[in-house]
Amino acid sequence: MRNIVRRKLTGYVGFANLPNQWHRKSVRKGFNFNVMVVGESGLGKSTLVNTLFNTSLYPPKERKPPSLDISPKTVAIQSISADIEENGVRLRLTVVDTPGFGDFVNNDVSWGPIVEHIDSRFDAYLEAETKVNRTNIVDNRIHACVYFIQPTGHSLKPLDVEVMRRLHTKVNLIPVIAKADTLTDDEILAFKQRILADIQHNGIQIFEGPRYELDDEETIAENNEIMSKVPFAVVGANAEVTTADGRKVRGRRYPWGVIEVDNEEHCDFVKLRQMLIRTHMEELKEHTNNVLYENYRSDKLLAMGVTQDPSVFKEINPAIKQEEERALHEQKLAKMEMEMKMVFQQKVAEKESKLRQSEEELYARHKEMKDQLDRQRNELEERKVRIETGRPFDDGTKGTKKKGFSLRS
Ligand code: GTP
Repeated sequence: MRNIVRRKLTGYVGFANLPNQWHRKSVRKGFNFNVMVVGESGLGKSTLVNTLFNTSLYPPKERKPPSLDISPKTVAIQSISADIEENGVRLRLTVVDTPGFGDFVNNDVSWGPIVEHIDSRFDAYLEAETKVNRTNIVDNRIHACVYFIQPTGHSLKPLDVEVMRRLHTKVNLIPVIAKADTLTDDEILAFKQRILADIQHNGIQIFEGPRYELDDEETIAENNEIMSKVPFAVVGANAEVTTADGRKVRGRRYPWGVIEVDNEEHCDFVKLRQMLIRTHMEELKEHTNNVLYENYRSDKLLAMGVTQDPSVFKEINPAIKQEEERALHEQKLAKMEMEMKMVFQQKVAEKESKLRQSEEELYARHKEMKDQLDRQRNELEERKVRIETGRPFDDGTKGTKKKGFSLRS
């Protein structure tokens, strides 16, 4: 074990500047973040994404009149990328939408294309990693999946459970209650509890934020505060409206008032944005890389027959190879010995069984002969008694006592 000596520096060395180097490099390189939105059609996915990133990622939708909009929708995955910049920091944002999800009469396979899409992004990354030149791998893996739950106020639908169970091992699941403005505060609280209970009951793993070990108290408190709001009750709106007190806010106007998207008293949108963009984006990416992708990668490689066996090293090192061959040979010998022992034991058992059988036969024959002799003796004894007493025999002849005649066996 290496001994690490702790020394106090006597002067400025300069490595305290390392975070700044890292900061400059990251800013120069820019960041990328891939988020997937999953949920039934019309739950406000596009609106929320536009609200989240304060940009019109989605062009305004041209909705056909209901009478024309009768063609069955398919689960077509749509990916939209945009370069956005804030205070000189560039972010390449990709949003993967799953429109029409859950629209079929039979939704049993709705999750199929979504899972395939996530896998195909993992596959592309794995392929890029195994190429000779892998200096500029673009990370297109899904870092977060915002799952929209219909604001029914009841509990998770079986389809939600099914889809989440298929997704939770592949993406960081972030459940949200869509269109939360349609529920009262009490209804939201009760709905959240039921959703969390359903999630736990079905063994679904949702994103839980960073591990605490290295964090300071402030970060831990912030994380707890964010996580306490899961599943986030969100409201999406891109339009600016004027409140009763004359403020211009992003929100939705109703006859009875305005619901403000950026007001934490009104909904959890701010907390969701804080988690996705401000505090947990790196954590989401790290968890995707270190846990979700790693599991996918090892499963995939194992399925392809690749093992941890360091065969290349063995080829290079003849001593290890020789040792392995010797072990293999010994294994073979031991196996042969065991097989021979087994054959021997089997033969002995057969012989023993045969001997037991002939012993039993001999005993039976002996018993039979003994019984026969006993019968003959009894017969003769009876004859003797008849002769001695002069009683007639069964065939009518008379028994005659002869003096001095006795039967001795
Ligand atoms: P698809 O692309 O068809 O899957 O729909 P979507 O989930 O992207 O929904 P979209 O954002 O197009 O919104 C559908 C409708 O819901 C629009 O009329 C929105 O204005 C409305 N909407 C969006 N967010 C909210 C919300 O938070 N509350 C309410 N009440 N309505 C919303």
